[in-house]
Amino acid sequence: MIDKMELFKHAIGAMKNAYAPYSKFHVGTCIETESGKLYSGCNVENAAYGLTICAEACAISKMASEGERQIKQIAVVITEPDVAMPCGACRQYIFEFSTAETVIHVGNTSGYKNTFSITELLPHAFGKHNLIK
Ligand code: THU
Repeated sequence: MIDKMELFKHAIGAMKNAYAPYSKFHVGTCIETESGKLYSGCNVENAAYGLTICAEACAISKMASEGERQIKQIAVVITEPDVAMPCGACRQYIFEFSTAETVIHVGNTSGYKNTFSITELLPHAFGKHNLIK
C-alpha cells in the first residue's frame, strides 16, 4: 500500500487537468487498486451541464476499463480551504469497487484531512449483494 501522502500528490497533479470552465470547481483524485496500480482522474465538464463527469467517476472508469475491480485506497482533493467530499453519485461508484478494507482519503491542495470507509460515506448501500444471490 503506497503512502497516502503519495496518493495525494498524484490527486493534486490530476486536478491540474480539471476541465471546469463552468463551475470553476477543480477536483482531482487518485486510486490505488488491489494490484498496486494507480489511476488518477479529474472532473470533465460539458456545456450540456448534465454530461459532466466527476473526478472519481473518471478515475473509476479508467481503472475498470483496464480490468481492475478493487479499490484499495482513493484520495480526493479540491482547492483549499474546503475539503473534498465525494458527491452521492460518486459514493455509489466507489461502493461498486470497494471492500470493507477500502479507505477514502479526503483533503485539499494543502494535503490530507480525513479518512472514511465507504460504509461511513454510504450506509445501507444498494449494491451487487442485492442483485447477485
Ligand atoms: N465534482 C466532482 O468531480 N466530484 C464530486 O464528488 C463532486 C463534484 C465536480 C463536478 C463539477 O464539475 C464540479 O465538481 C461542481 O459540481
